[in-house]
Order: sequence, then C-alpha cells, then structure tokens
Amino acid sequence: MTAPEPRAHRLPPQIDTSKPSLARVYDALLGGKDNFDVDRALLAQMVELTPEMPAVARANRRWLIRAVRWLARDAGIDQFLDVGSGLPTAENTHEVAQSVNPEAVVVYADNDPAVIAHGRVLLEDNEHTYFIPGDLTKPEEILSDPVVTSHLDLDRPIALLQCLTVHHIPDLADAQRVMAGYVDRMASGSYVGMTHAERPEPGSEGYEELWQAYEKFREASAGFTLRTRDEIASLFPGMEFVEPGLVVADDWWPEGPRVGELSPMARLMTAGLARKP
Ligand SMILES: C[S@@+](CC[C@H](N)C(=O)[O-])C[C@H]1O[C@@H](n2cnc3c(N)ncnc32)[C@H](O)[C@@H]1O
Repeated sequence: MTAPEPRAHRLPPQIDTSKPSLARVYDALLGGKDNFDVDRALLAQMVELTPEMPAVARANRRWLIRAVRWLARDAGIDQFLDVGSGLPTAENTHEVAQSVNPEAVVVYADNDPAVIAHGRVLLEDNEHTYFIPGDLTKPEEILSDPVVTSHLDLDRPIALLQCLTVHHIPDLADAQRVMAGYVDRMASGSYVGMTHAERPEPGSEGYEELWQAYEKFREASAGFTLRTRDEIASLFPGMEFVEPGLVVADDWWPEGPRVGELSPMARLMTAGLARKP
C-alpha cells in the first residue's frame, strides 16, 4: 500500500504559495496547518506590530466553538451557514457541529479567491460540508445559491454565523439592510451568531485604555469598521438575545474561570447569539 500524498502536494495550481494570502495568515494566527512560509513571514511582521492580535483572534475562534457547540447540542440546530468564513481550518464550524451531530450540514461562503480554491480542497472528503464563492453583502444571492438551496432547508431553523465579517460593510444602514436580508429569509427559531469588534463610547469603564486599543485595532486591521455596542445590537433585527446577550466574547459562557486580565484589545471583541422568534 502506498502512503497518501501530503495535502500540500495535492493542491491545485490556482493556489499560489509564492505570495501570502490573508486567509492563510489568519489560519497561521490561529495555529492552523494550512499556511506556507510566506504567510508565516507576514504573520511574524504583523505580530511584531500588534502582539495582542493572536490572543484576540483566538478569543474570536473560542467563542465560535462555544456558540456552535451550544447551537448543535442544546438548540438542536443541524444546518449552519458560515459567511466570510475564511479557511475552514483550525477547529471550525463543521468540525464542532459534526462532533455533536455527524449529520449536521455546514455551508461556508467567502469571496477571497485563495479561500475558495483552498477551502474546496480541504473539504473534498466531507459529505456534509460545502464551500461556495459568495459575497456576504448580497444575502439574496447567497441564499439562492444552488448549493445552499439543495443542502439547507430554509423552511427549518438554521444558524447564520457572521464572525468578524460585518466590519467589511462600512456604512451602518447598509450593514443593517444586509443583516435584515438574511434574517427575513430565515425560518422562525433560526439563530444569528456574530462577533464584531467594538468602538468604545466615552464614559465607558476604562475608556482611555480602550480607545488606545481601538486605534491600534483599526490600524492592524485596515478596512475594518468598528461599531458601538448599540450599533452592533442593531445588526440582529427583531431577534432575541440568548443570555448573557451582547458581551465581551470571553465573557459569553466561558468554559471556566479566567486566568489573568483580558487585554484592552480582547475587551473590544464583542459577541452575541440571538434567536428569531
Ligand atoms: C477576519 S476574517 C474572519 C474569518 C472567520 N469568520 C473567523 O471569524 O475566524 C474575514 C473574512 O471575511 C471575508 N470577506 C470579506 N469581505 C467579504 C465579502 N464581501 N464577501 C464574502 N466574504 C468576505 C474575508 O475573505 C475573510 O475570510
């Protein structure tokens, strides 16, 4: 019997390993294995500028894992749509949902060409997980994609995941319209899970320190629009938050007591899960 080829050798030619891909840099940041020397070199430069970034990215991923586990196990959700998913690696939605329910169906969508090419290769052996190219700002196109309509039953509850994605829509009214476009099409009993970095408001506890972290976060993640907590809440139209509501991600049903203080940047990572009545 011949040993299976290492995965990197089976990569199709459209996966360019000579230039860094932000999605693979993010995978490296999370401790994933689907990245190359060029990606790790760029990550090293980024971490030198913002040493807190890996901890913040991990807080985001830890939240996703806890939320998906709760959805699959306690809320009985067996269909997930994860938009702006990045590479489906490093303990992602399908691994968590299918560890609870092996039949759970997961559709990932992203518009980054590196993610699309590489994501499909990563999922080719998984029967219940799919990857589609899609623009998260166009809910009607994503929800009518043939892969979505043939594998997700929108007449039954689904969970829509929007982790660190709505930042890519700069205008608040546009972001609200996009989220309403998804939620309107989702059945009653569906959930939206979202992480979104927060812009602190004057008067909030530790404001000065949080504001400095906010400026640094924006610099490190060019193109992100950070929002106040009320603005983030407005991205869950007509929905009811699962306790404890919209909070610092690490404070959302943590798995145990906190060891040490959260950095100001980690305190800007806000998360919430809400149900459509
Ligand atoms: C910061 S990453 C977050 C990845 C993942 N959701 C997570 O939380 O770990 C943002 C992702 O959104 C994707 N993205 C940005 N704009 C998008 C758009 N208009 N449509 C689809 N995906 C988009 C990027 O390609 C990237 O993979």
